[in-house]
Amino acid sequence: MCGIVGYIGKRQAYPVLIKGLHRLEYRGYDSAGVALINPAGNLNVYKSQGKVSDLEDTAQHQDLTGSIGIAHTRWATHGEPNFRNAHPHLSQFGRLAIVHNGIIENYAPLREKLWQNGRTFKSDTDTEVVVQLIEYLQEKQQLSFQQSVQQTLQMLQGSYAIAVLDKNQPDTIVAARKGSPLVVGVGDDELFLGSDASPIVEYTNRVIYLDDEDMVVLHRGTGANTSEVSIDLMTVSGDRKQPRIEQVSLDVSQLEKGGYDHFMLKEICEQPQSLRSCLQFARRTLAGEEAEGIFTLLESSQRVLITACGTSWHAGIVAKYALEQMVRVPVDVDYASEFRYRNPVITRGDTVIAISQSGETADTLAAIEMAKNQGAKVLSICNVIGSSIPRASDKVIYTMVGPEIGVASTKAFTAQVSVLTMLALLWGKRKGTLSAARCEDLLKEMDALPEKIQQVLNQQPAIRRMAETLSFASSCLYIGRSYNYPVALEGALKLKEISYIHAEGYPAAEMKHGPIALISQEMPVVTIATASDIYDKLVSNVQEIRARQGRVMAVVTEGDTEVVRMADCYVEVPRVSECLSPILNIVPLQLLSYYVACLKGCNVDQPRNLAKSVTVE
Ligand code: M6R
Repeated sequence: MCGIVGYIGKRQAYPVLIKGLHRLEYRGYDSAGVALINPAGNLNVYKSQGKVSDLEDTAQHQDLTGSIGIAHTRWATHGEPNFRNAHPHLSQFGRLAIVHNGIIENYAPLREKLWQNGRTFKSDTDTEVVVQLIEYLQEKQQLSFQQSVQQTLQMLQGSYAIAVLDKNQPDTIVAARKGSPLVVGVGDDELFLGSDASPIVEYTNRVIYLDDEDMVVLHRGTGANTSEVSIDLMTVSGDRKQPRIEQVSLDVSQLEKGGYDHFMLKEICEQPQSLRSCLQFARRTLAGEEAEGIFTLLESSQRVLITACGTSWHAGIVAKYALEQMVRVPVDVDYASEFRYRNPVITRGDTVIAISQSGETADTLAAIEMAKNQGAKVLSICNVIGSSIPRASDKVIYTMVGPEIGVASTKAFTAQVSVLTMLALLWGKRKGTLSAARCEDLLKEMDALPEKIQQVLNQQPAIRRMAETLSFASSCLYIGRSYNYPVALEGALKLKEISYIHAEGYPAAEMKHGPIALISQEMPVVTIATASDIYDKLVSNVQEIRARQGRVMAVVTEGDTEVVRMADCYVEVPRVSECLSPILNIVPLQLLSYYVACLKGCNVDQPRNLAKSVTVE
């Protein structure tokens, strides 16, 4: 979703800001803009509908000088994705410029009041109300730049990450966050702002993660002291805070395609390595100092509530199967957006497991806040270190697969499922519901998964051929059973989000209860039919589809003969225990959707209407 970049220092701000916007493109957006204060003290704003490259075209012959600036990629919420609504927004008299990520819920009454006081609006956005209010307070109450931002923030309901420029203070950026992420980068004589660390790591690995309701004033010295920069950190209500500088270990090469056509393909193909790093880290975490705290938290709970969105929710369903089987603990899995509003029964002694790649998903964050307020403890499984969800959790296990940039989640899913499965194995062993020997066997099998994923990746030509058939479909079903029912859901999500082909995932036995009515030659059925305790049942489900002239594309275990005989096309995966099979079986489905999207000429990494990090509800 919206991305923010800011710079104040000695170098020209524009190239830093544009490069930063490119780094944030993965989040998803529909317009972009930049505001700079030039050496003469003019505030120049350039914006464009479309891509950051469109903004560069628009700005190319303009005055791009200045060593202080803010920039933005917008994912439309209030108002259409057009030039008028693109950020930065200017205040009525052009003194201030703002960029904003989030939703101001009380913008309508504030707008009405400002309008009654003579302010007019050029956009349909909630953001413009904020900048108008800041300027209004500056004038009406003679407040300083910092004070007027602070007072404005106290009047806002909703979520925000903002950065504001005041042309009368050309050496200051004021920024703040509540519910939307914002990071300050600390260079030697320069400071940066970013919605995450990706626009910053090129210049410095020292960052300050702002907490909710933090406000920060970034200053640059004037005159002989221009090389000095300083940071004032405080809460929105004015309490001073000591900034805590942390090191990020993000490498710029991780933010680039590295020779692949798309980030998604790179991320699919790097799963052998990413999974290895994930497994090593999870093993260390669950055997090291942190482990006792994590297991004590889990073992004190009567049941587990898993909450997440999208792909992470699918990982949560796999975890339910694993935890119930191995630990014999009851597990509920809820979409975070439903969980937070449906008044669920939560009691002291419940453990909530929140799963999130980005660690910033607004609904998941709100769901855990709500659960904590009702006495639950929270363990999060996250990928982005230092993001909001782990910071709001009692305990965290990081998946450690490096940045995932393609909007379609791939390596994060295999890592989430692996961490959760390992957690179930070790908890089951401690509890005695899983024998030590079985646990060790499965852990050994997990160690071999990266190699097995590589074997699946080696079959790309065959999967590409399957994709050619699927690319002509307008609708498609994915079926699986038990541990592979969530894989069917995830496979269907992958296909619909990047190729725009309608796809639904079902537990195979549910076909008879409705969806089998859809079966015809025009409706391919992607079947996950690998070795399992109920393989024979699945075979019957496939027969029922074949009997109605349905076309079957199957994922099978090496050496399969029964499903292979009925399938129109198939891909083989190495044999693994059923509880580990989702980690392997999703890989051909990721590739299948990738190749279908490529064949259809879709924008694989930034599919229409989607954002990588869903920071608004
Ligand atoms: O960052 P999160 O894991 O919390 O994100 C949750 C979903 O938005 C995400 O998984 C989404 O469904 C992906 N685009 C799916 O590929």
